[in-house]
Amino acid sequence: MIDVVLCASGSDEVRIVHDLAVDRGRTARVVRRCADLAETLAVVSAGIGDVVLLDVSVRGLGREPLATLLRDAAVVGLRDERAGEQTTLGLRHVVPASAPIEEILAALVAATDSGDEATDWVQEASDATSGTGSDGRLVVVWGPGGAPGRTTVAVNLAAEAAAGGREATLVDADTYGPSLSQVLGVLDEAPGLVAACRAHDRDTLDEETLDSLLPLVQPGLRLLSGIGVPARWAEVRSSSLDGVWQALARRGGLVVADVGAVLEEDEELSYDTAAPQRNAAALSAVAAADAVIAVTSADPVSITRLLRDHARLEELGEGELHLVVNRVGPPISGDQVRELLRGRLEPTSLHLLPDDPVACRTAIWDGALLAESAPRSPLRRALRELALSPAVLGASLAPVEPDR
Ligand SMILES: Nc1ncnc2c1ncn2[C@@H]1O[C@H](COP(=O)(O)OP(=O)(O)O)[C@@H](O)[C@H]1O
Ligand SMILES: [Mg+2]
Repeated sequence: MIDVVLCASGSDEVRIVHDLAVDRGRTARVVRRCADLAETLAVVSAGIGDVVLLDVSVRGLGREPLATLLRDAAVVGLRDERAGEQTTLGLRHVVPASAPIEEILAALVAATDSGDEATDWVQEASDATSGTGSDGRLVVVWGPGGAPGRTTVAVNLAAEAAAGGREATLVDADTYGPSLSQVLGVLDEAPGLVAACRAHDRDTLDEETLDSLLPLVQPGLRLLSGIGVPARWAEVRSSSLDGVWQALARRGGLVVADVGAVLEEDEELSYDTAAPQRNAAALSAVAAADAVIAVTSADPVSITRLLRDHARLEELGEGELHLVVNRVGPPISGDQVRELLRGRLEPTSLHLLPDDPVACRTAIWDGALLAESAPRSPLRRALRELALSPAVLGASLAPVEPDR
């Protein structure tokens, strides 16, 4: 006997309950009728039911809650044929809500027989989004706490790469201090990352939808804005973010992500794998990255923090690690910085950026790029050179002769 948790709309619910009750074969019985998704999740997580028979248009349904349900039960989707085209979120077993009870029973049996569906479903969902042509290069600009210059570096690297002829997309994935819209002087601050995650969760993040979330802010430079107010961090979840990185990579070109400093798992929540994590954006970005650019300030506090976090960085991602030591200037020389790092950290490449407060202050007050507000500044020149180097563009994209 299959125990069914039912979450269906009005008349379908009444009919299915009735038809299952009079089913002679006693193949399945409804053990719980749920009014909404929240109740369904609670019932299933309490261990009730073998299969959830679920209206796929129930409010709030997306990949996350579906993955949660699939951890504890099989799921059969009920599709409303009157509602036009509907996503079924990659569910393997879906029947029309108005189907004869024999058809629904067959789907219930098939779903309970099909073994480790959760794993298969997650795998299929990620296969479906990963496609074949992941041509893009994801460069994640991270740095330890204390504002070492992550945003300054991320914005200007992406802009310089775009000015150098590469299609570039900047992503504000800092869930503590999103700031790219403001730094770039974009007035309409739509929470792009939240919208992209939501679309992925609902299985609607196709090329066109993604493009509509990426306004052109400079020729060749697009922006996926951040979460707007930091309080919205819970709306960007790990599994959705993974899908967003894949979708961005499929578009091709260079993707530069500005992420927050904290790379810890939210430990007190980790007993609950479905709970949102504040650091999910940084963690998933580093895990998906082709290269991480670690930005530290040229001072002992910042460098000590970097050395402390370095192991965590390696644990998370296997891509290249490029180190940028920012704000180098008297009385500290580049040689002193190199000496300090020698033997402690061996990045794929090491780059020094000069301290240039006037150029930075002018750019930030103008809501402009260094290339616009301080084109001749030493900092802008150094960032331009870095932007056109293999660290940012990758060995295959970088010009053979950097055009200085
Ligand atoms: N090379 C530099 N020289 C002088 N000031 C800098 C430099 N890089 C960044 N800054 C300034 O430091 C502050 C923090 O930079 P920001 O890029 O916002 O850091 P983060 O994103 O790491 O918090 C900003 O006021 C910025 O203008
Ligand atoms: Mg920042």
